[in-house]
Amino acid sequence: MSKITLSDAVLAPEILVVGLAIKEGTSKKLVIESGHLRLDTKTLLGALEDVGATGKTDEVIKLPGASTRLIVFTGLGKAKTHYPHETLRRASGAATRALAGNPSVSYSLPTPDLASLGAVAEGAALGAYSFDEFRGSTKADRKIPVASITIHTALANNKEAKALAKRALVIAQYTTLVRDLINMPPSHLTPASFVDIIKKAVTVAGGVSSHLKISVLDEKQLKAQGFGGITAVGQGSANPPRLLHVSYTPAKAKKKLVFVGKGITFDSGGLALKPAVGMEAMKSDMSGAAAVSAATLAIATLKLPIAIDAWAPLAENMVSDSATRPSDIITIYGGKTVEVLNPDAEGRLVLADALVKAAEVAGKGSASVVGIVDVATLTGAQVVALGTRTSAVMTNNEEFQSAFLAAAANSGEAFWPMPLPVELRASLDSPVADMANIGDRMGGMLVAGLFLKEFVSEDLPWVHLDIAGPAYNEGDAHGYTPVGGTGIALRSLVTLAQSSL
Ligand code: BES
Ligand code: MN
Ligand code: ZN
Repeated sequence: MSKITLSDAVLAPEILVVGLAIKEGTSKKLVIESGHLRLDTKTLLGALEDVGATGKTDEVIKLPGASTRLIVFTGLGKAKTHYPHETLRRASGAATRALAGNPSVSYSLPTPDLASLGAVAEGAALGAYSFDEFRGSTKADRKIPVASITIHTALANNKEAKALAKRALVIAQYTTLVRDLINMPPSHLTPASFVDIIKKAVTVAGGVSSHLKISVLDEKQLKAQGFGGITAVGQGSANPPRLLHVSYTPAKAKKKLVFVGKGITFDSGGLALKPAVGMEAMKSDMSGAAAVSAATLAIATLKLPIAIDAWAPLAENMVSDSATRPSDIITIYGGKTVEVLNPDAEGRLVLADALVKAAEVAGKGSASVVGIVDVATLTGAQVVALGTRTSAVMTNNEEFQSAFLAAAANSGEAFWPMPLPVELRASLDSPVADMANIGDRMGGMLVAGLFLKEFVSEDLPWVHLDIAGPAYNEGDAHGYTPVGGTGIALRSLVTLAQSSL
């Protein structure tokens, strides 16, 4: 995606996308929703009926147009006087996906207000994605995603509308970075190459002139400085671990948000080796690290006046004679000891190190810390509890959680609050160390949350996001969501930064 234009001119574009909704209780069942653009709907509705159009979400129907080469109908579901923003976002995204192969597409969907317009632009842009970097002989047959988007709207000359179009483009560009990192195979994405990719992206984003800075600790430094979690998880791999720190410090920022993202470039389970079936999906176990790094770059690109400290503990969880053994005791940064009963519960170990370090560094700055957000593909229990499209939120501070949930709802990302019941905490007790890395199997997502909570000070507002299911789409593409890496959490983080000002 490289360009989003707004237009209020009634031109005849080559390819025009409009909405199609279901009107209940009337004889005419379908209704065309073309927003600002007036169409001769009578003939079109006849043709739509002939081809069996239903107007359901994720249905995209292409017809030859009268004044356009192609007129494309994207399903909105039930007709409404005001469509939810996420409905618009998904409908425009589904159309963009269906129109891959065409360089430019115009959209005319209902944009009664600025937020609706922003959603149409964002969805359209997010639908333009493919991952073909590793194809050879099959690359030529692949359709190239739509590169240029025009949105027809009466708000085209509104200053805020232009800012929203720009924002949509930035969101899409950095979501692409998240998706690419997730889809990249572990043969090519190691802790070291993850750092290199973010370094390059920082340079592209403007580097120091955009107030962005990167620092990295390598394995030797991690060991010397006491990061026992990251080094224990990474010690079985030929690709040594890193701790990446991306900071954005705009002049005169009064507030700061801290992000921490789980960065396991491949999770084999270690000596608690995962079953072969489905193990390939564990290349996505660095989705949190990708989301927090890219969100920081997006926030810098949007020049939001809030400081960001993003941390990505990066390691590959592998099996070898140097891998961490069940019963090994490690020391997390800051001194707490953990008995590693299950080396497949590795995410919490790298996050524990990073959470302690992040709080230590954040406390030294001049900006006041709003809170700390960790993002992780942490537990299979999350997927069991909430499925593949809803992520979990846990917290030590209801107010901060409410702020996060509002930001998530505004960005159209599904997050649901989950408790951290005190009575589960005892299951993490160890007979030989301060804590064990696993506890009760029942409520496993909450137990993981309780483990992390031990590494965050009570007076630092913290939310923990478990995105295990939603980070990686193993099903079919839908709305603006492709197969593979989805980019979940990035939009909520950027919106949270905007709403924390
Ligand atoms: N990366 C996995 C969690 C995961 C599962 C992410 C499915 C995405 C999809 C994590 O490191 C893990 O293995 N968790 C274990 C924890 C258990 C050993 C307490 C799990 O959920 O089985
Ligand atoms: Mn694991
Ligand atoms: Zn993992």
